[in-house]
Amino acid sequence: MEFTHTMANTRTLGNGALPVREYTNVDHVWLAAEPFMRTRMNDVHLPMTLLYAELILDTIPEADELVTRVAAMLHDVGWSRVDESKILEEGFRSDNFLTSDIRVQHEIFGCDIAREILPGCGFDDEFITKVTDIIDGHDTRPVSHSIEDSIVRDADRLWRFHPTGLGFSAEWFGKPPQWVLGDLTGRVMGEMITPAGIAMAEAELSQSIKIFRLDIL
Ligand SMILES: [Fe+2]
Ligand SMILES: [Fe+2]
Repeated sequence: MEFTHTMANTRTLGNGALPVREYTNVDHVWLAAEPFMRTRMNDVHLPMTLLYAELILDTIPEADELVTRVAAMLHDVGWSRVDESKILEEGFRSDNFLTSDIRVQHEIFGCDIAREILPGCGFDDEFITKVTDIIDGHDTRPVSHSIEDSIVRDADRLWRFHPTGLGFSAEWFGKPPQWVLGDLTGRVMGEMITPAGIAMAEAELSQSIKIFRLDIL
């Protein structure tokens, strides 16, 4: 597998790149979200998703950075309210895992939690609706509605190409890394939207293939 974009020519989380644009401080949003972040490793997944979103935002200055970033931070907090015993069985290992009831539930609960915590973080209804419009259907809706939506969708998928997300995917799907590689190249890569997101996906994946020896294992 040959990729145009590698760690050598791409700014991405996996090679230590950090955002370059000035971004609004959202530490208070993290603190408000923290009680909802332990389930399904979201205290790992959500910070990585935000960093990927910021690296994409660096390349798309016209996008609303605050809407994008708050949506990225909160998109999966709804997992904290679904029946945890069903997450792996229905959300990952069923034939229709991408559109399963539990997937829809985590999107709806995520919107609920955003509406509960964001007013206390100083955000108005108009802003909160922009955020929930992105969270709603982020996994189960096949199309993106806006550039901010596209950035969150790409950032959400990007961790799967990184060794951390690739490893968790192997565990959650109950499959070896080689199967996850097939899912990434056969499905997830084709869902990536932004040029920066595609470049980072290729760079991360080329590195993960080397780290996990997926050329032979
Ligand atoms: Fe999700
Ligand atoms: Fe996610």
